[in-house]
Order: sequence, then C-alpha cells, then structure tokens
Amino acid sequence: MTVNKRQMLVMVVGGWLSNFAANGQSLPNLFPLPNASGVLETYNTGNGPIDLSGPFFQSLGTNGRSCGSCHRPAQGWGISAAEVKTRFFLTLGLDPIFRPNDGANCDHNIDTSTLSGRQKAYSLLTDKGLIRVQVQVPAAAEFSVVSVANRYGCGDLATLSMYRRPLPTTNLRFLSTLMWDGRESSTQTGTQKITFATNPGDLLANLAHQSVDATTIHAQASTPPTPQQQQAIVNFEMALATAQAFDYGAGALNGYGANGGPVRLGTQTLAGFYVGINDALGGDPHGIPFTPVIFGLYDAWANPPGHDSEENDQAGRRASIARGQALFNSKPINITGVAGLNDDLNLATIPGTCGTCHDSPNVGNHSVSAPLNIGVGDLNSPLDVSYLPVFTLQNKTTLEIKTTTDPGRALITGLWKDVGRLKGPILRGLPSRAPYFHNGSANSLGDAIDFYNTRFNIGITPQEKNDLIAFLSTL
Ligand code: HEC
Ligand code: HEC
Repeated sequence: MTVNKRQMLVMVVGGWLSNFAANGQSLPNLFPLPNASGVLETYNTGNGPIDLSGPFFQSLGTNGRSCGSCHRPAQGWGISAAEVKTRFFLTLGLDPIFRPNDGANCDHNIDTSTLSGRQKAYSLLTDKGLIRVQVQVPAAAEFSVVSVANRYGCGDLATLSMYRRPLPTTNLRFLSTLMWDGRESSTQTGTQKITFATNPGDLLANLAHQSVDATTIHAQASTPPTPQQQQAIVNFEMALATAQAFDYGAGALNGYGANGGPVRLGTQTLAGFYVGINDALGGDPHGIPFTPVIFGLYDAWANPPGHDSEENDQAGRRASIARGQALFNSKPINITGVAGLNDDLNLATIPGTCGTCHDSPNVGNHSVSAPLNIGVGDLNSPLDVSYLPVFTLQNKTTLEIKTTTDPGRALITGLWKDVGRLKGPILRGLPSRAPYFHNGSANSLGDAIDFYNTRFNIGITPQEKNDLIAFLSTL
C-alpha cells in the first residue's frame, strides 16, 4: 500500500479535525498524528481504542497535572519544545505543565503572576522541552559538590537541579533501565536492576514505583496513587507501541516490502527482545554474537521500483532512507573518551558503529543497562550547552576535579566513574519529539548527527547526513 501526496494531505487535515472531535475520551487505534516529516501512530497491542480517560490522564495530585501533561500521544508520548511553546501561547502559560515546582527554570525568585513573568520563568520548558529534575547527592558519594553555577537560581549543593527531557512512555517493554540515570532501576532507590533472569517482573515493579514518584513529585500529590491506579497506569503504558507510520516523501513506511510503523514493532515479528539481546560486549544470554546490523526495516528499499513521476520521487526518498539505514548499521566510528566504554574496557579507541551503543534490534536503545558519557553534557560539547548549570565536583580521595552540566548516574551510585553517564534511549518515534539528547541540546536530528560527526571525527558527508536524517525520521 502506498499513499500519494494528496491522500496524505487529506489524511493530515482529517487527522487534525478528528483530533478536535475526539473529545479527549479515546483515540482510535493507529490514529494518524501528523508531525514535520510524516505521521506517527500508536498501536494498542491490547487492541481497541487508546483510552484517554484512565489514571494516566487523570489529575491525581494537587497541581492539575496528569502523566499526559508531559507524555503526549502526538509527541511520541513525550513532549516537543514546539508543541509546548504552542501550548504556552494557547493557554497564556497557564496549562498545568507550567507549574513552578519543576516546570519552571527554578521554583523561587520567579514571578508567575504576569504573562511576561511566566514567559521568563518557563523559558527552558518552552525553548527546549526541559523539566527540572532534582536529585540529592548521596551522603556516601566518592565526591563532593564544590560549586554550582546556575543562572536561574536553584544552585543548592546538597540537592542538585538538572534539566532533562521527558522520556517516552511507550515501547516500554524494550527498556533495560528506567529514567536517564537509571534511578528507578537501582537498589539505592528501593527498585531493582533489570536483568534477563528477572524480566519483565523487574520492569513492571519499577514502573509501578515510578508512577508513585511521578505522582508525588510532578503532580505534587500528598497521597500516592492506589495500587489499582498504579496497576492501571503500568498496564496502559505497557500496551503501547509507537513509531512513525507514514513519511511525506516516501509514503507508507510498511509499503514496498518495508517493515516500518508501529504494528510490526508491537507484534514483535521483527523486534524480538530480551534483556541483553545483541549485546555489543558479547553478553547476549543466548550466546548469540553481536551484529552491528541493528535496523532491518528498509532492506527492501535499497532498489525500490518507480512508476509515474510522483512514484519516482517516492522511490528516491525510499532509496535515501535505505542508505541512511545502511549508514547507521555500518559507518565506522572510532569511539574514544566515552566513560562506560573506553575506561571500563581500558581501551583508548574502540572501533564501532552507531549500533555499538544502540544495540537493540529495530529499537535502538542499549539492550542492557549501560550508562555512558558520550559528552552531551560536557562543557566542551560541540553543541551549545551554555543554558545549563555547571557543577564542579571533587573526588574526596584523589582531589581530582570534574565539571559537568549533569552528573547523571553518579548521583544515584555515588561513584566517581559514573559522573555524566546516562542511558541511550529508544530511537523509535524520533521525529515527533525534538529536541534530542537528555538536555535538549540537539534542536534537530541534523544537530544530533553533527554532534557525533564532530565529537568522534566520523567524516560524515552532507549526502550521508541527509540520508541519516531521512532514515531517523522514519523511526
Ligand atoms: C512535569 C512533567 C512530567 C509529568 C507530569 C510526568 N512525567 Fe514522566 N518523565 C518526565 C521526565 C522529565 C522524565 C525523565 C526524567 C529523568 O530521567 O531524570 C520522565 C520519565 C518517565 C518515564 C521513564 C521512561 C524511560 O525510558 O525510562 C516513565 C515510565 C514516566 N516518566 C512515566 C510517567 C507517569 C506514569 C506519569 C504520571 C504518574 C508521569 N511520567 C508524569 C516528566 C514528566
Ligand atoms: C558511544 C556510544 C554511542 C554511539 C557510538 C552512538 N550513540 Fe547515539 N546515544 C548514545 C547515548 C548514551 C545517548 C544519550 C545521550 C544523552 O542524551 O546524553 C544517545 C542518544 C542518541 C540520540 C537522541 C535520542 C533522543 O531521544 O534524544 C540519537 C538520535 C542518537 N543517539 C543517534 C545516534 C546515531 C545516528 C549514531 C551513529 C552516527 C549514534 N547515535 C551513535 C550513545 C551512542
């Protein structure tokens, strides 16, 4: 099946109209939600419509927020900065996402009584889609926090304020750790590490625990959600599979023998998953060797047939997407200076590809918990990080100093080697939820590729960059 541009336009306009008509009660299964490069769909693996009235979308706290304030179907169950900006203008900054506790750059010395005051107070949320995440420095940490430079205030030394992007609440069965810093999959917080032997029980328990924390922190609830509400939230999240389904240039992403879109992802026909699958360090529990060929969605498009001129346009786009997939699977990257790889393996250079770190087949996260510091939060990142706070940490034993914009995993484990380490997220649904990386420092997929090209000196040509963007935009 393929769709021409006129059909696509009709679909998109139709989609918008029925969005207004949907009345917030439920979303038809596989409802087309348009974004800049095509249409995103969510497949309810339980079949039937996607219920928008359960506890996930109810205000369970005191500030009017629900999980759905920050985890939105059309934004791949996260948020995009563009949509948040629109929400700000439509509600004059009064939508429940705009709450001082963690929606504002800082919760004190702000004026939220006027529109201009709110514009200023919520600038990181509207510009970058960032939420303020507070984590206490563990008492037994191997380091102390010497100073915090935070231009918005919130420079406390004992409880640090980081600014992070909401992670999608879909495709969750592929997770090997919960939250950017894995804190909801950590003994330190009373949750458990996700392992092959204990999955999916570990994940389900962690998600229930996370739903309590999210309700008391983001929604400022004084009482936690009931066990029934927790269960309903976890069941709801676990049933969702989300992916881009149509591309304005290429048509249906499951057309001409391709396997894009959420149904294949949700029915597991392609993306069989278990914790440790295809582990890049040889830890696959079934002993199957690692392959860098992570994505096989568009193999059939390497030489797509063309018919009339519109079909030829589409064929060109399909070929570009297939080339982008091949680059993801094979472009050599010399991995250097990555904490969690080069230091742990004691190798100055590791010959790799995108899939060395994004190793889950057709999903793209890391299939085991493997917090890494690729430099996204370092002060010398090739992308602008000047809007973020700077933390200066000192090792209590060696007196060595590290500076970072986000200490990451180190605030959970207290370990010096974990400074700046964060998880590699799932790569499906990308085009609906810009900007990228935990701190939103890549405004577009092109910026993310530029980051890698500069950071690892890959030598990506302009044509290769276009092909990689075309591919990532179909995930
Ligand atoms: C104010 C915005 C906001 C609200 C409201 C919110 N979240 Fe989140 N959510 C976030 C942010 C930010 C993160 C990432 C934080 C981090 O990793 O440090 C996140 C992460 C998550 C994750 C982790 C996904 C992964 O890949 O690890 C899950 C699951 C989740 N939220 C579920 C929920 C649920 C359930 C609710 C409602 C009870 C909720 N969230 C309410 C902002 C929000
Ligand atoms: C050395 C490990 C490593 C390699 C190699 C790597 N990545 Fe990543 N990737 C990560 C980690 C870790 C993150 C999360 C970083 C952060 O946000 O701080 C990430 C994040 C991303 C994101 C952002 C996702 C989001 O939801 O914000 C994209 C897109 C991405 N990578 C694409 C690629 C592509 C394309 C390649 C190959 C050119 C690649 N990665 C190579 C480890 C890696």
